Amino acid sequence: MDTKSLWHASADLPQHAPLEGNAEADVCVVGGGIAGLTAAYLLLREGRSVVLVDALDVGQGETGRTTAHFFPPDERYFNIEKRFGRERAALLRDSYKKATELVEEIVQREQIECDFLRLDGYLVPAPDGGADIVDREFAACERLGIAVTRLLRAPGLGWDTGPALCFHHQAQFHPLKYLGGLTRAVTRLGGRIYGSTRARDIEDTTVVTEKGRVAAKSVVVATNTPFNDRFVMHTKVAGYRSYVVGLRVPRGALQPFLLWDTGDPYYYVRLDVQKGESTHDIMIVGGADHKVGQDSHPQPRYEQIEAWTRERFPQVQEAAWRWSGEIMEPSDGVAYLGRNPADNGSVYLITGDSGNGMTHCTAGAMLVTDLIQGRSNPWTELYDPARKPLHGLGDFAMEQANTMAQYADWLKRGEAASPEQIPAGEGALVREGRKLIAVYKAPDGELTRLSAACPHLGCAVHWNADEKSWDCPCHGSRFDTKGQVLHGPSNAPLSPVEG
Ligand code: FES
Repeated sequence: MDTKSLWHASADLPQHAPLEGNAEADVCVVGGGIAGLTAAYLLLREGRSVVLVDALDVGQGETGRTTAHFFPPDERYFNIEKRFGRERAALLRDSYKKATELVEEIVQREQIECDFLRLDGYLVPAPDGGADIVDREFAACERLGIAVTRLLRAPGLGWDTGPALCFHHQAQFHPLKYLGGLTRAVTRLGGRIYGSTRARDIEDTTVVTEKGRVAAKSVVVATNTPFNDRFVMHTKVAGYRSYVVGLRVPRGALQPFLLWDTGDPYYYVRLDVQKGESTHDIMIVGGADHKVGQDSHPQPRYEQIEAWTRERFPQVQEAAWRWSGEIMEPSDGVAYLGRNPADNGSVYLITGDSGNGMTHCTAGAMLVTDLIQGRSNPWTELYDPARKPLHGLGDFAMEQANTMAQYADWLKRGEAASPEQIPAGEGALVREGRKLIAVYKAPDGELTRLSAACPHLGCAVHWNADEKSWDCPCHGSRFDTKGQVLHGPSNAPLSPVEG
C-alpha cells in the first residue's frame, strides 16, 4: 500500500507553471497550503496584490496529509489557562471559533464542494486513565463559557468509551477540495500562483527563488516550518510524524463524529462519508506520533492504529489507506502566528500547528492579514512568535536536550558496513572514515550516495523506510532519495558524494 492520502486520491488540484523572471506584488506568500492560500485570499479581498509561490504546487504539502478536523486545542484548555491565564485562554477559544466560522463562510461564499460538516466531537479517556483529564477539561470549559456536555460515554459508537466530554458544533471537511476552491477564488481575484518555485531566501522583503525574485512590501511564510529562520523558531517547535489509517466501514453503520482520547500521543478519529454508489464509508484514525527522523522503520505504527481501532469498532473492514504527515509542535502548546522575530517587521510566520492545523492555519491567515493591513488584532500577543517559551519550559528543555543528543550520531558507526548490505529499495547510513554517507539502493540496484549532513544545521539524517525518504531528527527537514527537499526548514538539498 502506498502512502498517498485519501484526499490526494479524490481531489483534482490545478497545476501552476513556475515563476520565470522577476515579479512584484504588495504581498508575497510562500506556501500553497491552507495557511498560505487563506492568507492570499483574505488579502486579495482587501485589494492587495498577491504572488504565491510553492516549491511543488498548491496542496502538495502537509495540508493534504492531515485528517482535516476542527476540534478544541489538543493541548487542552485547562493547560492553556494554567500557562497563559484565563484571559488568553478565552482569546484562544475565540480564535478557534472564528477560524472555523471563517472556513464555513468561505465554503458558502465561494460555493466550494468540500464536504464541510458541522458535528459533535468527543474527548474520551485513554485506556490507561484520563477520566481526570476529561473532568479538568470540563471544568475549564465551564469557566471559559464553552458549550460542552459531560456524558457517561460517547453515544452511538457501540463501544463504552467511559466518561466523555462532548464539544458541540465542531467541523470537518475534505482539505484538498477546499484548497481547490480557494485556489480558484485566489486566481479569480487576481492572485498569481507559481508552482515548482522554491523560495531560497528572503532579502528584506524580496523573496529569492530559484528562477527569479519577487519584490513585495510584506512576506507571509506559510511553509509549515519557516525556511527563512535558521535558528530562533526551530528551538521553539519540534517536528513530529503522525500516522493515519483509513478503514472501510459499511455505509451508514455509524453517523459522522469526531473523537480523540487523552493519551500522549493521542488517537484521533473521524468518519468520511462516501458519495454515490459506494457501499462503505471510511473511518480515518490517526496517532502513534514520534519525532521526525527518530524511527527508521515506523510501519508497525499503522498496525498499532489498526489494532486500536478494531478493538473498539468491530464494524470496520479492511484498511484501504495509510499515510503519515508532519506536524510542528510548539513548546508551550500555542501556535506561532504573526511577525517573524528575526526580520524587519514585514515578514510574517504561520507555524506551530500541532494537531490543530486547519484551525491554526486559518487563524494565522486572519491574524497576519490584520497585521499587514495595519489593524490591531486581539490575538497578537497570544500567538506572537517572539514570545519566550516561559510557559512550557519543561517541554522546551526536553526538546532541546533531544535535539542536542542527535548530534552524537556523527560519532556512531554506520547502520550498514557497506552498500552491499543494504536491501534493494532501502537506504542506510554507511561510515567511510570520518564521513557518514546516506546511501539509497534503488530496486534495480543503482546506488545514490549523499552526504548525511542536513544542510540546515548539520545533524545526520536518518532513513525513513515508510516514506522512502531521509529525515532529519533535529528540526524535521526531509529529503527524497535524490536528496531534494521534501520539508523544511532546510531549503537546500543533501549534497551528492562521489564514489
Ligand atoms: Fe535542522 Fe536538520 S533540520 S539540522
